Amino acid sequence: MNKIFKTLLLLLLTNLFAFTTVMCQKQNEIRPGEIWPDNNGKHIQAHGGGIIKIDKTYYWYGEERSQGLDTNYRYVSCYSSKDLINWRFRGDVVKMADPENLGRKWVMERPKVFYNKNTKKYVMYFHLDNSSYKVAKVGIAVSDQPDGQFTFVKSFRPLGHESRDIGQFIDDDGTAYLVFEDRPFGFRIAKLSDDYMNVEKEMSLIKEHMEGGAIVHFKDLYFSIGSALTGWRPNPNKYATATSLEGPWSELKDIAPRETNTYGSQSTMLLKVVGTKSTTVIFMADIWKPKTQWDSRYLWMPLEIGESKLWVPQPKPWTLNIKTGKWNYVQPSK
Ligand code: GAL
Repeated sequence: MNKIFKTLLLLLLTNLFAFTTVMCQKQNEIRPGEIWPDNNGKHIQAHGGGIIKIDKTYYWYGEERSQGLDTNYRYVSCYSSKDLINWRFRGDVVKMADPENLGRKWVMERPKVFYNKNTKKYVMYFHLDNSSYKVAKVGIAVSDQPDGQFTFVKSFRPLGHESRDIGQFIDDDGTAYLVFEDRPFGFRIAKLSDDYMNVEKEMSLIKEHMEGGAIVHFKDLYFSIGSALTGWRPNPNKYATATSLEGPWSELKDIAPRETNTYGSQSTMLLKVVGTKSTTVIFMADIWKPKTQWDSRYLWMPLEIGESKLWVPQPKPWTLNIKTGKWNYVQPSK
């Protein structure tokens, strides 16, 4: 072998090795605000997302905003994980063309999937709109598999109200709720019908304008959170509490130091992890990059929560033990 050939071969092998290491490297921590590689080493595309747990597997759905996608379609991706840290890309479960003549730059945002035990269907809700956000509806798409193709079924205004940002909430007894931002009135919480194909009953109207709405049931209290209405720009997100989903709800309070604008993020979900030793509630938020949406980041932090208090601690790399439910800060591995 001549020298040049040998050097080239060596270079190729080293690169291949580095590539496979990145692809297969197990991650030990969650790093708020950083690139979050999936099993292929690609930054996770699940913006404005939501998570469900089926048996021991978590599925994370969100807006797929990779570069180079066909702009005629809207995409929703699906990832799976057993530890909430390492995520496997399961594919784009939605590739949808404009379903209702909404026109150029139509909008499909904040997909949330519920699993219905009776019908055995995965029911996806999402915000469906035109480019000026005047349609203000939810859309529904359905699949038989968590990572199968979801088929568009219909769109409507929940209980006849405008609906833009949506959030999902499944209570400890398994009841499923949709939260939605109704611009003229405020933040609504409503129960889904038995088959999840409709929004059936209003539980509460919080007369405050909150986007990126999310709820968690922690001990004896319900906590609702959301952001102010400043588009992609971050603002101080807030929360309210109530002993019942029907309220009355407390006044709104900050979830982080006001001047940080929620550390540059916007809420999308509160995820409760009940372990053998501890219960951790994760604040899941998006750090939007409006001009480079594919590079938008995630800010996930375990909350300080309880006794009417909810607070996002200073974001730093942390790890979670999915079995015990305990979390701690870590020195990031390189
Ligand atoms: C945000 C909303 C996002 C997206 C954006 C568009 O307020 O939370 O989901 O709709 O506005 O400007």
